[in-house]
Amino acid sequence: PVSGAGETGAGKFVIVANRLPVDWERTPDGSGRWRRSPGGLVTALEPLLRERGGAWVGWPGTTDPRVGEAPITFDDGLTMQPVRLTGQEVADYYEGFSNATLWPLYHNLIVKPEFYRQWWNSYVEINRRFAQVASESAAPGATVWVQDYQLQLVPKMLRMLRPDLTIGFFLHIPFPPVELFMQLPWRREVVEGLLGADLIGFQRPQAAQNFLWLARELTGQETSRNSVGVRGRFGVVRSGFRSVRVGAFPISIASAEIDQQSKTRAVRTRALAIRDELGNPDRILLGVDRLDYTKGIDVRLNAIEELLEEKRMDPERTVFVQLATPSRERVESYQTLRAEIEREVGKINGEHGQVGRPVVHYLHRPVAREELLAFYVAADAMLVTPLADGMNLVAKEYIACRSDLGGSLVLSEFAGAAAELRQAYLVNPFHLDGVKDSIVAAMEQSSTEGRRRMRALRRQVLSHDVGRWARSFLEALAGQIDETAPLESE
Ligand code: ADP
Ligand code: F6P
Repeated sequence: PVSGAGETGAGKFVIVANRLPVDWERTPDGSGRWRRSPGGLVTALEPLLRERGGAWVGWPGTTDPRVGEAPITFDDGLTMQPVRLTGQEVADYYEGFSNATLWPLYHNLIVKPEFYRQWWNSYVEINRRFAQVASESAAPGATVWVQDYQLQLVPKMLRMLRPDLTIGFFLHIPFPPVELFMQLPWRREVVEGLLGADLIGFQRPQAAQNFLWLARELTGQETSRNSVGVRGRFGVVRSGFRSVRVGAFPISIASAEIDQQSKTRAVRTRALAIRDELGNPDRILLGVDRLDYTKGIDVRLNAIEELLEEKRMDPERTVFVQLATPSRERVESYQTLRAEIEREVGKINGEHGQVGRPVVHYLHRPVAREELLAFYVAADAMLVTPLADGMNLVAKEYIACRSDLGGSLVLSEFAGAAAELRQAYLVNPFHLDGVKDSIVAAMEQSSTEGRRRMRALRRQVLSHDVGRWARSFLEALAGQIDETAPLESE
């Protein structure tokens, strides 16, 4: 029960995210146990959570009423505090408002956002539930770090419950241009919700800039007007007697760990076996994504189809592997996307494949970590072509796996990662001819050119890991970096 949270109320550091980083694993005796799922965020924050006796508050990803009745504790002292949702709440708060209203609105209306009062009411109620559990999990004066678009009202709700807390918020996805955000019927409530935090972090300076404008327009508060920097030159919003800081903190991966894992014998051997299983083609192209309409999977399929038709890509010597994790499968736009992608894969193979030798290999399932790293090691060109993306960790994972300095990265300008990975083959995913030319260039680059690019990319990714991201945010939140622009009124 939620009251069980009181037992863990000693947490000096609490993470609040829509999902808990755990998976329910069936055991041979027919029962089950929780297993930690090793995402980058957990990896980065785990030491802090353990050191400070902290907790992670989140939804366990199931509506099974038997799951999540009590806190989940691991032997090493990590505590997960579940927030339970009913089937209806998942439909309204998660699939509805989070993923059919906010997700498309924040990703430039790639599909049309839907605005329903019932979804909004549920979003408010569930945000209140998360705030309540967080407040019961946090020790006096604790630091609470709230994650992502599903929980934008939590900072204000939590501050009202617990004014003693230091509250941070980080948005993992893009924050939209102001004229798109202004479509949201509850725009003022969302901005005020965020302003409950002491520090609001975005992936990119432009997102912080957009937020400052909205805070000024929608709440009438004074804000700074100087341009926001990366991990510094923060903006500021006056919110009553408080000052809220606003900054850009590009997220990353556990680079050194992935680099190490990719060098193991198991991964190297598997990479060779993958090439063999694919028929030893000259070129392996790879895509790795959640099956989401923001990821531009259709863009790369269209580019490949035209390159095959124009005979600029040889179907005898080239394969494209698309690993697509199922995602948000009950949301209609995701069902439509899946049908489109699968039709396109069938069309390309129907026209250009041979029996036993398809050009496109498509897996609609999650792939185990080690297997995924082996695909990265095997791939000659990685295609990352989102129409909009907060960061895109896949691009960074690929680079971390290429200690051999092999491979090439084709990367959309509209992924947050493009601001850092300048030596990739950068493309505008809306310009199909440009995407095609870049895929050809990436496939045909000389080894000297490839090594030059990959060396520079690796320097970036290995020196900017997720640990650095977390530290820079938390140091700013603790006020250790005080580089804030002056306030200006009209
Ligand atoms: P998003 O957060 O929008 O899903 P990112 O690229 O930032 O996109 O992160 C996706 C994460 O999910 C990465 O860590 C990636 O390795 C993982 N992932 C994506 N597709 C698969 C897959 N098919 N199998 C296993 N892991 C995957
Ligand atoms: O990065 C955006 C994000 O929505 C995260 O908040 C989330 O953990 C991930 O993508 C996967 O999405 P979902 O939790 O909806 O499966």
